[in-house]
Amino acid sequence: GMPDRVTIYEVGPRDGLQNEAAAVPVEVKAEFVRRLLAAGLETVELTSFVPQKWVPQLGDAEELLELLGPEGLGQQRPVLVPNERGLDRAVECGVTSVAIFGSATETFARKNLNRSVAESVQMFAPVVKRALDAGAWVRAYVSMCFGDPWEGPVPVEQVVDVCLRLMDLGCDQLSLGDTIGVGTPGHVLRLLDALDDAGIGPDQSAVHFHDTYGQALANTMAAIRRGVRVVDASTGGLGGCPYARSATGNLATEDLVWALDGLGIEHGADLAQLVQTSTWMAAQLGRPAPSRVVRALAGG
Ligand code: HMG
Ligand code: MG
Repeated sequence: GMPDRVTIYEVGPRDGLQNEAAAVPVEVKAEFVRRLLAAGLETVELTSFVPQKWVPQLGDAEELLELLGPEGLGQQRPVLVPNERGLDRAVECGVTSVAIFGSATETFARKNLNRSVAESVQMFAPVVKRALDAGAWVRAYVSMCFGDPWEGPVPVEQVVDVCLRLMDLGCDQLSLGDTIGVGTPGHVLRLLDALDDAGIGPDQSAVHFHDTYGQALANTMAAIRRGVRVVDASTGGLGGCPYARSATGNLATEDLVWALDGLGIEHGADLAQLVQTSTWMAAQLGRPAPSRVVRALAGG
């Protein structure tokens, strides 16, 4: 059945912005985060501690956290860290919540992490151990859980295998990434069932849908009905991955909130404030937000 409440895991400042070609000023990013928090979102992924040459847009991670100050940190403000160098940088800034990000396919592991799947698990192992030892919260993303632009459809058993390897490191939460937005609700249920059979219940999993084929909301609702309680979304529907050109925006937070409000499922966010934030951000980026709900409610 449907829950009384779900947690929205907002990825706008990280996934939403990482693919923007023009540099977004760090003050604008800080203001974006502040507006998201003011709109009632509690869990907001802030940025990534990756080499600037890999993701130029997020090269200002230290400056952003400095601008946000201590109230911008905490267990509900995760950042992406691929390796120990990234963890060191994050810890130096006072971060207590991190996300590693693996791949279900060899091709994307190579393109996104410059490593095989096995080598990337080896890279993450000390990151997770050190983070947990320090009392931090750790999320494990798995990308290409449904399809891969180079390899095509990805077998469910292959996804489960990578999820198990990452969760065996001791991560607190899994996020199932449909990086290129090709998944459909039946496929989502098959994956959640297979994970459950392997010992990873839906209470341990979040879902992360990109909306390339317009399935993100349908997939998310299927996952919620199957017991998932944490949903990734990006305000305005911004998003994409620089290492998978066919990736488009994430599920828009406003589209999710519209659906949850219709079902009477609590989430804590204020739709009007989110729409205002997206309208403001669209002006900064120079183009309208992809979200259908923003378009409908902003009246433009
Ligand atoms: P590499 O080039 O193999 O790294 O990249 P390396 O260890 O050989 O180091 C190369 C240089 O970078 C060295 O410097 C390191 O010190 C430095 P040099 O000696 O040449 O001067 N370096 C660093 N500097 C700053 N911060 C660091 C860091 N690490 C090394 N953390 C690496 C390997 C994993 C670092 C690289 O491949 C990488 O950063 N990949 C991340 C790409 C990325 O951010 N992709 C987008 C996020 S994933 C996503 O969007 C999907 C998701 O949304 C879910 C979904 O939708 O499916 C999460
Ligand atoms: Mg993503």
